[in-house]
Amino acid sequence: MNRHKPKRNRGVILTREGWRKLQKAKLEGELREKSGSKYTLEEISERAGLTSNTVAKILTNQEGVDKRTLVYLFMAFNLELNPQDYFKLNTDLERLQVSKVPKRVDWGEMVDVSVFYGRTDELTLLEQWLIQERCRVVALLGMGGIGKTTLAAKLSQKVQGWFEYVIWRSLYNAPPLFDLLANLIQFFSNEQVLETDLPKNVDGRISHLIEYLQQQRCLIILDNVETIMQTGAYAGCYREGYEDYGLLIKRLGQVMHQSTLVLTSREKPKDIASLGGETLAVRSLQLSGLEVVAGQKIFEAKGFSGSESELPAVVERYAGNALALKIVATTIQDVFDGNVAEFLQHYTAVFGSIRDLLDQHFSRLANLEKDIIYWLAINREPVSLSEIREDIVSPIAPQNLLEALESLVRRSLVEKSTALFTLQPVVMEYVTQRSILFG
Ligand SMILES: Nc1ncnc2c1ncn2[C@@H]1O[C@H](COP(=O)(O)OP(=O)(O)OP(=O)(O)O)[C@@H](O)[C@H]1O
Ligand SMILES: [Mg+2]
Repeated sequence: MNRHKPKRNRGVILTREGWRKLQKAKLEGELREKSGSKYTLEEISERAGLTSNTVAKILTNQEGVDKRTLVYLFMAFNLELNPQDYFKLNTDLERLQVSKVPKRVDWGEMVDVSVFYGRTDELTLLEQWLIQERCRVVALLGMGGIGKTTLAAKLSQKVQGWFEYVIWRSLYNAPPLFDLLANLIQFFSNEQVLETDLPKNVDGRISHLIEYLQQQRCLIILDNVETIMQTGAYAGCYREGYEDYGLLIKRLGQVMHQSTLVLTSREKPKDIASLGGETLAVRSLQLSGLEVVAGQKIFEAKGFSGSESELPAVVERYAGNALALKIVATTIQDVFDGNVAEFLQHYTAVFGSIRDLLDQHFSRLANLEKDIIYWLAINREPVSLSEIREDIVSPIAPQNLLEALESLVRRSLVEKSTALFTLQPVVMEYVTQRSILFG
């Protein structure tokens, strides 16, 4: 009766790398031997000495098989099966339940990701965290506009078949955790649990939620988690009345279950920071900007030919920030008649909506963070902790300074490389303008 009960408790399945390797060899064989037309399932089974059924299982990568079976199929294409090509399916609680379509999906306000460029490395890594390594909490972090929500949406679409339940919620309107938990529990119980039957406190509701996350494999995506974090304090602290979100993250990270919480945030919640070091089940990925090629595609989508030789310089100037690039592309068209060189010569990096974006970031900072940012802008070159300390006139304990700097790095405003700190290029320009304006 339970269609999710695994048929066998053993077996291995191809990793993405292994699957790609096999597909590539298959394609090459088809080009060589069949002038590009596809091998039939029967042809492949004959080559490998396996049943068509088994071959289909491997090619669709939906079910575990014996390792030997994979070896045979690989041999049929002159390939060697290496340890990075496959992974073992776990048993018991951690058993893999691979279905093609989740039982229930609620995409909420998930964004449309039919237009999506680049980020292949990030997607591969995240798929590995969710599917192979079965991380319980994964945070996608980075400054506004970098592409966290877009990546989370693309990822959820890609991996949904590995989960029985998928739910996407935005915290943009700062829902109290108490209400969000009710919503989640009702979804995972197929609306079988009535509001009146729910535990009357957050703790009880978290425990109840965890029971579902243990029984079935669920994917929860919480977008815009920075909304429930405090402004004017160091990054990662929760807003008053929202501290219990920290408890949720902590418990989902620590307790054994078979589900995953993916969250996006401009700031790293402090529980992720502390648990991340403690348990491998909690991970975070700090997003950097789009690669030049992907950034150029944003321009192409806006009507540029994509071959303009100055485009890479524009993409780099905005550190591949997808939102900034979209805004800039429109401006170059509207104001500079599509002339990229002209724009680069005559226009400063910060204007219009990018300034709004950075205004939002800036208003969230604690005073010491603001001081540090100004000094980093004045210095322009990367500086060490002790240099910053000398700059700031008021006496500050080294510990406080370090905390504030770490907070800025978590907010993706400051970059750190080998013990030197500096501002992101666009942020540098913004702060410089701001200090001229506000003295
Ligand atoms: N890989 C991508 N390919 C194409 N467009 C992208 C990509 N990533 C982001 N974008 C576009 O850039 C804009 C900003 O992306 P997104 O909303 O995902 O950023 P964010 O990091 O979630 O920002 P915020 O912190 O403000 O929520 C969106 O319009 C999105 O469509
Ligand atoms: Mg977002």
